[in-house]
Amino acid sequence: MAKPGRTQKQIAERYKGNLGYYRRLHPWRRTRFIISLITIFGGLVAIGLFQKHGRETFFNAGKISTSHAKFADDCAQCHDRDAVTGKFTEVLRDRFRNGVAVEAIDRKCETCHQKHSFHQANVVQNRSCSACHQEHRGLSNLRLVATSQCATCHNNFAMMTASAEKGMHLPRDAFHRHPHPPQQIVFELPRPPQGFTATFASFWEAHPEFQLTRVSARDPDVLRFNHQRHFASDIPPLNGQKLDCNYCHQLQPDGRFYQRISFAANCQACHSLQFDWRNPEMRIPHGNVDLVRTFLRSLPAQYADYARLKKGIPEREVPGFVAQQIKQLRDQFHSGDELERAVFFTKDPYKPQQAMGAAARGNFTGCAFCHEVKTAANAMPAITKPILVDRWMPQANFNHAKHQVDPVTQKPLDCNLCHQATQSRETSDVLMPAKANCTICHSPQGKIAAECITCHTYHAPIAAQTTVAGVSLREMLLGQR
Ligand code: HEC
Ligand code: HEC
Ligand code: HEC
Ligand code: HEC
Ligand code: HEC
Ligand code: HEC
Ligand code: HEC
Ligand code: HEC
Ligand code: HEC
Ligand code: HEC
Repeated sequence: MAKPGRTQKQIAERYKGNLGYYRRLHPWRRTRFIISLITIFGGLVAIGLFQKHGRETFFNAGKISTSHAKFADDCAQCHDRDAVTGKFTEVLRDRFRNGVAVEAIDRKCETCHQKHSFHQANVVQNRSCSACHQEHRGLSNLRLVATSQCATCHNNFAMMTASAEKGMHLPRDAFHRHPHPPQQIVFELPRPPQGFTATFASFWEAHPEFQLTRVSARDPDVLRFNHQRHFASDIPPLNGQKLDCNYCHQLQPDGRFYQRISFAANCQACHSLQFDWRNPEMRIPHGNVDLVRTFLRSLPAQYADYARLKKGIPEREVPGFVAQQIKQLRDQFHSGDELERAVFFTKDPYKPQQAMGAAARGNFTGCAFCHEVKTAANAMPAITKPILVDRWMPQANFNHAKHQVDPVTQKPLDCNLCHQATQSRETSDVLMPAKANCTICHSPQGKIAAECITCHTYHAPIAAQTTVAGVSLREMLLGQR
């Protein structure tokens, strides 16, 4: 057992004759008191001084992003001077009530980023710029906006229902937020009555099936083209190669999308518009009804040129050659009018072709082989202009350049993974991928990024702004007109 400690008496002994201990100030305690006073008042004075004269950086809440680094120390670019330093109590009161006051900051953002229009006309309450573009975190890229920010609306049932409701009272053109250059042909399905207001949190789960697939859209083009037929065994090779997608579909220089098909570059090699099998180098010009008619009505002159330039027939024999050819044509077609009708309105106007193999036959086709040809009022043939669509999914920013090789095997990606072209027989087939074609890669299983911003943008492009009923950014932001 331990020795017993000191008794009460022994302890009291220490304070004998020192009963004023608590009333007298010991030098140490006095110092402590004075230091406390200095710190408190010094601090207050310092705050006062800093508000008037101090460097603003003192109040900095964290490192500014790289894009704004140039004026990182010029707080007033983003903050009202008051908000950082001035009316201290006011700011403090605000903070406790509302958190960080971002409205004022948003207005500052707008002074430099004037051209930033917001997202959709039927949004019920816009987010602050700073919700998505977070400052004072030293981020190198303010554009990297988290999916959770998009989900604050897109996965909020009440909010999206209210937007669907609001959308019903807005004019149709308020929603055109994917403007494109006039020469570009974009396939745009009508906006559904409820708008695009389904609720979901991620791409790989509840994100809606793409509208083209959802509504089984059809291609309105009347140009006849059969993909499957062109992969058959009787299709002749070109430059020693079997016909493949890239012969007709060539990427644009930036690699994102494909160039438009053209007759001259993609069809002419096999469908060369020959009309006289005895003179295979005589060809009908393509692309203009008037030119074709002029050509057919000046056949003797055309044959004469052909005789001189292509066949090298001596001048004195030319008239005889021309007469011979015209007679042979007349035996076949009886009259110029009949020939013209055959060229424009008959799919396969030239009799000898049946004996030819498919490959050679392909060269002797009429306009109606590929086109819808109608008779116009003045009995002129009219070709319905083909509509070759350039963009099919304007709401997303697809990029073929990023889909050239399989990220795992590094082998080239087969076009048919996304486009079922080799099975398509009709132009009206829309050969666009469904969502399932994307989730094999863009999902946690596929291990490729599947954030909303991987495929979409947020801000309506500048050109679309004016259509949003003349509402300025500030008005949208503050919900006022
Ligand atoms: C590029 C714009 C920008 C610049 C420059 C900037 N800030 Fe900020 N600051 C913001 C934004 C945006 C917020 C608000 C919200 C957030 O993201 O937390 C903020 C928040 C703050 C906050 C905390 C919230 C508040 O308002 O009470 C302080 C303190 C602050 N900034 C101080 C500074 C100081 C000091 C400077 C100058 C050295 C500065 N900031 C420069 C954009 C900026
Ligand atoms: C003094 C003018 C100014 C103010 C105020 C300002 N910015 Fe910027 N911002 C710029 C400049 C300059 C760039 C760089 C543009 C570039 O690199 O092409 C930029 C770039 C950006 C970018 C693009 C970043 C990237 O990686 O491309 C975003 C997003 C952005 N600012 C958001 C904001 C937000 C949000 C605010 C308000 C908190 C704000 N800015 C305030 C001038 C400003
Ligand atoms: C403030 C709420 C809100 C936020 C935040 C929001 N959205 Fe939306 N978004 C909407 C509404 C409402 C619609 C429906 C528009 C309609 O009905 O036509 C919509 C529609 C869309 C559409 C389809 C319509 C189109 O024409 O493109 C895309 C894509 C989209 N949002 C992407 C995004 C992305 C990406 C983000 C995050 C960076 C985001 N949204 C954040 C409210 C929001
Ligand atoms: C001989 C030329 C030719 C070849 C070869 C060809 N295409 Fe096409 N393709 C066309 C023409 C003409 C159109 C436009 C008419 C149409 O929509 O069918 C088109 C349209 C398309 C479209 C978009 C239009 C739509 O209706 O969806 C896709 C996608 C496409 N082709 C993919 C392919 C793929 C994949 C291959 C290879 C397996 C291929 N094509 C081979 C000529 C060709
Ligand atoms: C490599 C040669 C080749 C190219 C290039 C080619 N075709 Fe053909 N095409 C053929 C052949 C051969 C046939 C079969 C002819 C026949 O059977 O009479 C054919 C058949 C067709 C048919 C009839 C299809 C059917 O279902 O009967 C159309 C229409 C057609 N081609 C349009 C086009 C168009 C439009 C282009 C350019 C975008 C094109 N072709 C490019 C070789 C080609
Ligand atoms: C083998 C298929 C094929 C045949 C046969 C064909 N065309 Fe075309 N035609 C096309 C294609 C493909 C286009 C669209 C691409 C282009 O303009 O080059 C087109 C486009 C056109 C256009 C629109 C040009 C423009 O500027 O928009 C006219 C007009 C036209 N053809 C007239 C004719 C006439 C007249 C004939 C008969 C003499 C004919 N075509 C025969 C495939 C064909
Ligand atoms: C990973 C899927 C994927 C693969 C692989 C793919 N595409 Fe596409 N392709 C798309 C999507 C998505 C679009 C719609 C883009 C748009 O218009 O917004 C498209 C559009 C097209 C179009 C229409 C014109 C255009 O550029 O928008 C053609 C033609 C086309 N693809 C051809 C091809 C060919 C040829 C290959 C193979 C070399 C190929 N694609 C491989 C997904 C794919
Ligand atoms: C891998 C690419 C990809 C990702 C990731 C993605 N989307 Fe989409 N989304 C698309 C494509 C493609 C379409 C169809 C575009 C079209 O038809 O023009 C689409 C369509 C939409 C639509 C219109 C829906 C409808 O009803 O037709 C909305 C809204 C949308 N996306 C929002 C989002 C949001 C929010 C996220 C993030 C949670 C997201 N998307 C992630 C590719 C993607
Ligand atoms: C075989 C795998 C694979 C498939 C299938 C696939 N993707 Fe991708 N995708 C990728 C890869 C890899 C990237 C590049 C990611 C990166 O750069 O971080 C990418 C990038 C993208 C991008 C960003 C493009 C850019 O400019 O940065 C979009 C948009 C996209 N994919 C949409 C789609 C759509 C829509 C589909 C379905 C039609 C699809 N992807 C199917 C692998 C795939
Ligand atoms: C719901 C999230 C969200 C909100 C809120 C938001 N942005 Fe953005 N912002 C984005 C996304 C995502 C991008 C990437 C490119 C795009 O979508 O256009 C972006 C891009 C930008 C860019 C650079 C791209 C360009 O076009 O040069 C600037 C600058 C910008 N935003 C400024 C602002 C300003 C200013 C505000 C407030 C008035 C704001 N943003 C509000 C999501 C948002």
